[in-house]
Amino acid sequence: MKIQFNMNSQEQSFANAYLVFDRSSLNGIPLNEAEANYALKQLQENELVIVNRYTEMILVAFADRLKDKALFTEQCRKRGNEIGGILKKEHISGIAIIVPEIQPEAGIALAEGLALGSYQFLKYRTATDKKPWNLEKINFVGAEVPKIQVDQLAVMVESVYIARDLVNEPASHLNAVKLSEIFEAMGIEAGFSTDIFHKDKIKALNMGGLLAVNQGSIDPPTFSVMEWKPAGATNVKPIVLVGKGVVFDTGGLSLKPTKDSMDYMKCDMAGGAVVAAVMYFAARCMLPLHIIALVPSTDNRPDGNAYAPGDVIHMHSGQTVEVLNTDAEGRLLLADALSYAKGYHPDLVIDVATLTGAAAMAIGQHGIVGMGNAGANIFGALKQAGENVYERVVEFPLWEEYGESIKSEIADMKNIGAREAGAISAGKFLEKFVDYPWIHLDIAGPAFLTSADHYRTNGGTATGVRLLIDFLKSLV
Ligand code: BES
Ligand code: MN
Ligand code: ZN
Repeated sequence: MKIQFNMNSQEQSFANAYLVFDRSSLNGIPLNEAEANYALKQLQENELVIVNRYTEMILVAFADRLKDKALFTEQCRKRGNEIGGILKKEHISGIAIIVPEIQPEAGIALAEGLALGSYQFLKYRTATDKKPWNLEKINFVGAEVPKIQVDQLAVMVESVYIARDLVNEPASHLNAVKLSEIFEAMGIEAGFSTDIFHKDKIKALNMGGLLAVNQGSIDPPTFSVMEWKPAGATNVKPIVLVGKGVVFDTGGLSLKPTKDSMDYMKCDMAGGAVVAAVMYFAARCMLPLHIIALVPSTDNRPDGNAYAPGDVIHMHSGQTVEVLNTDAEGRLLLADALSYAKGYHPDLVIDVATLTGAAAMAIGQHGIVGMGNAGANIFGALKQAGENVYERVVEFPLWEEYGESIKSEIADMKNIGAREAGAISAGKFLEKFVDYPWIHLDIAGPAFLTSADHYRTNGGTATGVRLLIDFLKSLV
């Protein structure tokens, strides 16, 4: 279901949302005296007040403009999401947002939270289920908002929805080939090109990491190459995005050991979904940047031919890896993709992956663990983007000492490190396959939620999509 965003619509809406930045002033909000008194009283205790006239609903949302900019914007998104909850309860499918003159961006943020929080994954609910509700229309009235911002908001929301849909799709309905086909269809719609490498080509390229993980699968692997190369690109060398595309992670023969830890492992292709959704945005919005996205994909399962602890594999880079845990599979297929990316002589490579439980343990669902060698300027820009969209990045170190734990006696490295600092030893492993400016984003914590966190809906969150969109926009 697509949400329509309209500007300066004259059309009357049943629901009208106003933003206020002062709990004691309802200036400009068309309320009668009794309503105003009620609303003012409610505003002392609440961030959202509803005046329900039954023929029309007026929603008054408060956000604190004295807070820092990122926090304030996030508050506006949260208010938008709360408004969405009311629309859903009341089965109202359209709303007017009255954009405040003194802070038009707040109106956009409100719409963003409303739209993102209205996401639902209803594909597998049958018609016998209760009557569905969808948010169909958001009208901006009041202060002028730049058309490009509204257009980009609409496409950004679609991109997030696409990524969430992909993550929420169960492995019963999504194998590597299907995932590639969906990328291809996204490319046809948005205007980027997609080249799918199938097993023969993957073998010919000696992608031993991807092939090893795939050995226990009855489905073949794929390696998707997406490219957006507009005529007026401002970068000469491409930016390459790499996404982990493990459609399901059982752990393989080193079967996931802890209770419940396999339950949501359909989310292990979230990085792949994120980079494809970013490509979708870039092409739809014609970002003047040459961008390539790579997604190595397979499921990771135990089977007769599954790779086993102790195996030594030959990677695309020519290096060898001793496998000591088949559940550390993500780094193996990412390493092949990172090594393949060298061929593009990239300006910058960013990989996105649900890579380690350790990252989730370290930071939980509220942040992304980042590391890399790209330097302070690039990291600074990425962190700023993180604040802007509230998909915050914290940088972990890649100190040399952490490399000790992935040394192997019999091969160039092994695929697991010490018990401590597991997110970093995964990063140290990947570092061995790059020779260009690179950032690794471990999204294991925020990628998938078992209950909603405001507008980050339950299930796949698409965390990383808004981060990378904002970051890429900062480069042009
Ligand atoms: N896909 C998992 C990481 C993960 C954990 C993602 C929780 C989302 C939520 C990854 O393949 C994995 O199994 N990592 C292992 C590595 C270990 C064996 C070195 C882990 O973190 O336990
Ligand atoms: Mn694993
Ligand atoms: Zn995994």
